[in-house]
Amino acid sequence: MTGTVGHQLIPAPRAVRDGSGVLELDGTTSLGADPELNTARRWLSRALGAATGWDLMPAPAGSATIRLRLDPELDAEAYRLDVDTAVVIHAGGPAGAFYAAQTLLQLMGPAALRQAPAAPGGGSADPWPVPRTHIEDRPRFGYRGAMLDVARHFMPKDNLLRFIEVMAMHKLNVLHLHLTDDQGWRIQINRYPKLTGTGAWRRESSRGSWRAGVFDSLPHGGFYTQDDLREVVAFAAERHITVIPEVDVPGHSQAAIAAYPELGTGALNGTGPVEVWTRWGISETVLEISDTSLEFYRNVLDEVVEIFPSPWISLGGDEVPLTQWQNSDRARAQAAALGLADVAGLHSWFVRQLALHLEAHGRATHVWDEIGDGGLPDRALVASWRDYEGGIEALKNGYDVVMCPEHKLYLDHRQADGDDEPVPVGFVTTLQAVYDFEPLPQDVDPAFPGRLLGAQANIWTEHLDSPRRVNYAAYPRLSAVAEVFWSRPEDRDYDGFLARLTGAHLKRLEAMGVEYRAPSGPNPWQQRPGVEGWKRDYDAEQRTAAGTAAG
Ligand code: ACM
Repeated sequence: MTGTVGHQLIPAPRAVRDGSGVLELDGTTSLGADPELNTARRWLSRALGAATGWDLMPAPAGSATIRLRLDPELDAEAYRLDVDTAVVIHAGGPAGAFYAAQTLLQLMGPAALRQAPAAPGGGSADPWPVPRTHIEDRPRFGYRGAMLDVARHFMPKDNLLRFIEVMAMHKLNVLHLHLTDDQGWRIQINRYPKLTGTGAWRRESSRGSWRAGVFDSLPHGGFYTQDDLREVVAFAAERHITVIPEVDVPGHSQAAIAAYPELGTGALNGTGPVEVWTRWGISETVLEISDTSLEFYRNVLDEVVEIFPSPWISLGGDEVPLTQWQNSDRARAQAAALGLADVAGLHSWFVRQLALHLEAHGRATHVWDEIGDGGLPDRALVASWRDYEGGIEALKNGYDVVMCPEHKLYLDHRQADGDDEPVPVGFVTTLQAVYDFEPLPQDVDPAFPGRLLGAQANIWTEHLDSPRRVNYAAYPRLSAVAEVFWSRPEDRDYDGFLARLTGAHLKRLEAMGVEYRAPSGPNPWQQRPGVEGWKRDYDAEQRTAAGTAAG
């Protein structure tokens, strides 16, 4: 990537050849598209029209000022963008045309990302210069994801739509929504109204790390109606983002069990009803592996697949403590009856039953990698979060994989070592460390029977209690992630990225209202003095694990 134009763009395009001078666009600008690219035309007309105040005139695709042309020779996500006497975009399909439109807005400067003209006096009469250039671009990976945990802290729908808009500016294309957990159930299920009636709110929450034992005395809750979620899905689809819903089983299920106690092993064992969990951490409250639970979750999934057209539905499957099953005569008998060696096998057995149900709906299952310990469902997509190993094992066994190792791509983890990072938890995960991420370790031969579809950054929200806190955690690291997932590794250049970030991209984020972490560190109001975190050290944990294994 060369030239001044390329030096403004994030993610970096594959090839740029600068022309000389600028093309001036103004209120007479017309827009036309081949019919196959109409969705991109519609989006560009709205976005550019909003920012500039122009009423973009419709014109034939062959002669408009901005032309979106289909080129079947190109991949569906690929595009060429020529700015000379007109803006001529060639795209392999609607996604490519959409990415070209995003690149065009980036070329027009940060104001092109605002939602109304911001120049003094309205400004829509002034021409907007676009640098003359020729860009050829396509992504490295087909799956460029972010996971957002809306269970620990609910993100109101308007903010979620905005989060999607900012993802789209970065050419990310998968939003994995973590909709259920111990601390909250966020998706309306018509058949089981108590899932949201009871499960969507909690009395209070841990303040900072649960280890501090401090609570905030503030009720927290919220949920999306099915119409909300259909709106979110359609909004994302218009931006070529697939929304993967996650209903996490058989652990991380305390909110569901609070609503319907018959789903829980503990409640059946007489340990009493549970409430929606107020603490962070891993709850020992797990699902009873029974016909009742299976029937319940099949019914839930029947509604989930109606809302989400995603080829994958996530059943989670992470972090399942065995204590309750080990203490349950029924669970032990159930494991024996199923021919399992012990109750540990109930975990993947249960997920596989639900995966078969999804299969009957024509959907593949997305799971966290620990499910692999007990046998993966057919056609599973495995999200490898416990380092790379689970993913590599799944690739060896012919599964699809997305990489999201905790020590590399968890954006709730602290961005620097300083005590002023708000609620500093997890491993130090700097902007540069994120930028240096590769989905496979260097010494691993990438020739596997399984497919590495891409990677995703995960944003857990125990300590991110508002959209502002999510934006602080996500940006600008998610900008770096987007470049890693889109651009070629041989073009990777951290100094160049930083120059583009500070020279142009932070201004884009500001124009979109994203309260990112400044390179200099948190602003005073972004700090959380006195709220205890839980700092971890990856190398020390590796040494301990090695010592434990050896000893
Ligand atoms: C996870 O971090 N428990 C997937």
